[in-house]
Amino acid sequence: MDLNATLRKLSYVPVIEIDDAANAVPLTEALLAGGIGCIEVTLRTEAGLAAIRAVAKSGLPVLTGVGTVTRADQVLMCVDAGAQFAVSPGFTEALGAACRRANLPLLPGTVTPSEVMIALDAGFTMLKFFPASIYGGAAWLKAIHGPLPQATFCPTGGIRDEDIPGYLACPNLSAFGSSAVASRALIAAKNWDEITARAKKLMAMVCAARPV
Ligand code: 3PG
Repeated sequence: MDLNATLRKLSYVPVIEIDDAANAVPLTEALLAGGIGCIEVTLRTEAGLAAIRAVAKSGLPVLTGVGTVTRADQVLMCVDAGAQFAVSPGFTEALGAACRRANLPLLPGTVTPSEVMIALDAGFTMLKFFPASIYGGAAWLKAIHGPLPQATFCPTGGIRDEDIPGYLACPNLSAFGSSAVASRALIAAKNWDEITARAKKLMAMVCAARPV
């Protein structure tokens, strides 16, 4: 699978904080019903890994990533649970090496040109840009494309609806992410209809700005 091409096609990655793994499959179904074919389940909650395992076991047609991976010792557990890619808020050599050994694609987090260069040197070209709104948003992506065109980015953090066209206009965007479609509270409340409605609304904005 060409992960960058797949993410570009999907355009949007919902960042998930989930408290009960039993909610993972209905959540994924709600997202799919709204036109979203990817999830990033973060390890910020105890239930994260079990949620990934449940989605992988369900056979639902969704690209499943694991987020908030910060330590090398988490990598094998993520692979075992069925994660197809990993996302980190930052980058360490140890994490990069562990993901390479495990054959797990990693999107390391970067916010400065030097961090991007370090990640590129380590062999990672698909990067996370976090927290995007604080570090310059789409203008940062546009600016970094000049000197470092080989890097592509998944920005997350504070991305609002009105920012979407700007991000989608960046040639170095893989996909953008947020917690706006499937917030922790909506998932805990099992409000699948609202999640599907938010997914449809967001994907309509994406389609209007970039045909998918
Ligand atoms: C992330 O982990 O990528 C962010 O917390 C998601 O950002 P948001 O909650 O501001 O959308």
